[in-house]
Amino acid sequence: MLRAVVLVSGGGTNLQAIIDAVAAGQITNTEIAAVISNNKGVKSLGRAEKAGIPAYCISPKDFESREQFNEMFLAKIDEIRPDLIVLAGFLVKIPEAMVRKYSDRIINIHPSLIPSFCGVGYYGLKVHEKALERGVKVTGATVHFVNEGMDEGPIIAQKAVAVLDDDTPEVLQRRVMEQAEWNLLPQAIDDIANGRIKVEGGKVIRS
Ligand code: GAR
Repeated sequence: MLRAVVLVSGGGTNLQAIIDAVAAGQITNTEIAAVISNNKGVKSLGRAEKAGIPAYCISPKDFESREQFNEMFLAKIDEIRPDLIVLAGFLVKIPEAMVRKYSDRIINIHPSLIPSFCGVGYYGLKVHEKALERGVKVTGATVHFVNEGMDEGPIIAQKAVAVLDDDTPEVLQRRVMEQAEWNLLPQAIDDIANGRIKVEGGKVIRS
């Protein structure tokens, strides 16, 4: 049984998709061991509690330095003993020590077709604002392993989504979630839990 910990920052619709997919048997061989948010009072924490999943908040704001936060954050993750760390709308940079320790065991969902519209400053609604400013006709979402870079790790899966002429960032965000994110992330967890993918030479290979 894969022990997954899900890290969140806000609304948690991707977390909900994972909870629902586990309940529906679309993700198998997986237990959501805990949910951790870096923000207090967010909807994600309520979603976890409602599903009976232990939920914690560790906020950088409660520590004197980023180093102290990083240490406590890693200690909490270690205590949970996860096989997989899932970033589901988690908007804090993962400390390097954690990336090294959990190499090829951290995945992230990003709301664009990487390498477009990603990297520093590209998160949440901003990604869709930039895509609309540029006038792209197709966008989408990517699930990838996390390495030391920003949105640079091996790509697990991507799904393209159409951009329509009268889209607002909010409308486009919702379409990308519905048509891509909420399927891609649960599917990737199921693939990992059932040994269907591995990383070789910096790329994801399906077996
Ligand atoms: C999602 O669109 C996710 O792809 C994005 O934040 C949103 C969180 O929504 N993540 C990033 O931008 C990471 N760079 P949610 O809290 O409803 O799942």
